Amino acid sequence: MATGIYKHLVLPLLDRLDSETWHERVRHGLHTVEQVPLGPEFLEILAWKGRRVVDPRLKVSLAGVQLENPLIVGAGWDKSGISIRALYALGFASVEVGTVTPRPQPGNPRPRQFVLSSGVVINRLGFNNPGADAVAANLESYKSDNIPVGISIGKNKDDPEDRAPLAYAEVARKLYPYGSYFVINVSSPNTPGLRSLQRKEALLSIAQSVLDVMDSYGARKPLFIKIAPELSYQEVDEILDVVLQLGLAGVVATNTVALGDVKARYGEGWRLQPGGLSGDDEVFRHMSTSKVAYIYSQTKGSIDIIGVGGVKDAHTALEKILAGATAVQVVTAIRSEGLAVAARTNLGLLEWLDKNGVKSISNVVGARYEDFLDTK
Ligand SMILES: Cc1cc2nc3c(=O)[nH]c(=O)nc-3n(C[C@H](O)[C@H](O)[C@H](O)COP(=O)(O)O)c2cc1C
Repeated sequence: MATGIYKHLVLPLLDRLDSETWHERVRHGLHTVEQVPLGPEFLEILAWKGRRVVDPRLKVSLAGVQLENPLIVGAGWDKSGISIRALYALGFASVEVGTVTPRPQPGNPRPRQFVLSSGVVINRLGFNNPGADAVAANLESYKSDNIPVGISIGKNKDDPEDRAPLAYAEVARKLYPYGSYFVINVSSPNTPGLRSLQRKEALLSIAQSVLDVMDSYGARKPLFIKIAPELSYQEVDEILDVVLQLGLAGVVATNTVALGDVKARYGEGWRLQPGGLSGDDEVFRHMSTSKVAYIYSQTKGSIDIIGVGGVKDAHTALEKILAGATAVQVVTAIRSEGLAVAARTNLGLLEWLDKNGVKSISNVVGARYEDFLDTK
């Protein structure tokens, strides 16, 4: 009922607004609500009849980080880390904050986020964020909440490629105390040259520099590499070489897609629009799921995979999990499905477990990866 009202009455109005403005208002609204007494409890009512969906069958261990359920808010939704308690109250197990760059950065000129159809978005934000010091100050206020926080690390637009390892290391050094796990983002299409850092040599030195920072703190935390959906399987193999060689935790698959052919599915005018497409697009969703399946086929559980791209409900979350993802992330669907998306997805996962007589969601990670391999 509430979902119907949201989708048929509220969403058509939101879709007319500037997408980024809506997002900013919701994020700041959640920030305000989470700070007032009983605010998080109010959000739990909003999400699902006054309770978080908590069930031992949904628990997963992501590279040793214990998550109450497999759903994480993906990078880009709360870039500066101001609504973590609220997103947790809404049913997510974790929030990946960022992408954070060493220094503050305004990002590209507005408008830079476009709704192509309900649930499908192009963004070219360009790592707008307040910088590592400000994000550290924000995250300080969540330290006693014990909510697992992921931190996505990037570089400033004007950091040249040969300075990239230093830039990633600087963010890691400033944010190390606040993250349960870290992600090296080398796959955003909106920072010129960033995707070339997915090459083996460049990636090895970036990852090594972040590991050196962790070593200087005395303990390594799980470190993931986030990849683009356009990579060939051969290019994915190179990334896996880096992950295995350095003993990293795993891969986040995938970032947004920048292919004109995918954008043009919404009208020829979008083909050349700069930016990455995300959300409820079948072609994009399958591109990212096939990367999850491929990585699983090559590693069979020896590393962890976070699946992201078009997750909006239990069906699409399960697709990623069956393909090999230990946890999944949601970004675009938080707008199109509404703030109850995590609660509904978790309930749907529980229903599926019941129906199929499966004891725990972690038992089916990768159980059907072959079905999702792109054989073309
Ligand atoms: C508005 C917006 C901003 C994003 N910003 C980032 C970012 O800063 N860092 C990053 O790694 N991914 C970023 N992404 C990509 C998402 O984390 C995710 O990989 C992608 O959107 C696919 O997931 P979805 O279909 O659930 O949106 C962003 C996506 C959107 C829509």
